[in-house]
Amino acid sequence: MSTHETVHKVPTPAHHYTLIRDPAGAYLGVDDDGARKLYDYVDDHAIWDRDRDSVRHVVSGQTLTVTGDAASVTLGCTGESPGDDAGTEGNAVSFELVHGPEKMPSDYLGFFRENGWVCLTSVLAPETVEELERISCTDRYEDRKYDGSKHPLNQSWAVGRTAAEPVSLWLMRMYMGTSEVRLGHPPSLAILGQDDGKRDVQGWHSDFPYLWGFAGNKPYGRVPTSSGNTVLGIQRNVCISPFTREGGATAFKLGSHVHDQGPPAEWGTGFQYGQPGHRAKHGLPYNGPDADILEAPGGSIILYDSRTWHRAGVNQTKKRRSAMLQAMVPGYVMPFFDTSGTWKGYVGSDAYNALTDLERQEMERLMVHYINGPGGAHAITVDEDLSEAIRPQVAQRRYYDS
Ligand SMILES: [Fe+2]
Repeated sequence: MSTHETVHKVPTPAHHYTLIRDPAGAYLGVDDDGARKLYDYVDDHAIWDRDRDSVRHVVSGQTLTVTGDAASVTLGCTGESPGDDAGTEGNAVSFELVHGPEKMPSDYLGFFRENGWVCLTSVLAPETVEELERISCTDRYEDRKYDGSKHPLNQSWAVGRTAAEPVSLWLMRMYMGTSEVRLGHPPSLAILGQDDGKRDVQGWHSDFPYLWGFAGNKPYGRVPTSSGNTVLGIQRNVCISPFTREGGATAFKLGSHVHDQGPPAEWGTGFQYGQPGHRAKHGLPYNGPDADILEAPGGSIILYDSRTWHRAGVNQTKKRRSAMLQAMVPGYVMPFFDTSGTWKGYVGSDAYNALTDLERQEMERLMVHYINGPGGAHAITVDEDLSEAIRPQVAQRRYYDS
């Protein structure tokens, strides 16, 4: 019997669908009545299959001829222009054919709902993956020196484009049952170096906002009860480097979200491993065959219900491993960290300006938390004076919830 986690190797897809993007970043699709229109999200309606000189709409079978290079194509069809139904005019609208998902969005959603996780294998375009490697200084760019002076969002268009990746956004909105989906913290890079056999490592836990496994031996953490059908968070892990067991891929107990409570103490929880020196004294948290590792190529996005028991991987190789981790929450959950300051520093940057209009709108929607009351929308941001004023009281506060 294996002495390590059960490895599920996700094969690199031989084929990807194509998305068709207009100059503002909207996606060309065909609705249920056969009319072409522009969508601001990507579900099955916006999925096309590319053949050399044509694109075929997968659901309707409609086919358009393609002339020009992929960055600027004219789509030929009988009599009308492909964007007409959505209000674009004339025949001169040029579209861009972009890298799409391996599977149909509805297939991913079915799997996600059944299993509590899904892998969008190699869903990011190759140029986006390379750009993320470059700013991470890993893989093809491991000799480059990391620039800590700017937030990763401001270092490259690729970070915003990845955070606004349309298929994963649609899946999360459907899985959480709300279109109001937010980032719980600014997108960040998690770069994991080689383990030395004694450093502190992360124990088993459920992610934000649950944070189960971090509150002593209590089965719950920040969310005090199970949440049932109400999904309070999805974690979106973007593999920048390929994820492998030896290279430090995240370890999961796949499907454990159904327990709707934190991981067992005998697996070694985030609370236990949060004590400095715990690993040096007790060794690694549970890493036997009841745990799972998803090995996936760079450019894959793994979504999982935040209740899923997991822990950070341990990198046994010399090669640094990069990932972009995002705790995603419905709009009614308070964020983990402030996103407003990062957002304000992002708007107008070169990286922001390189995004499409739709990607910018999505990023604003993801990063600006707001109160929507009778007086309209009020953006939430940190008030430093007020924070200073409450800190002493918060530090003294006694809790009686145990
Ligand atoms: Fe986590």
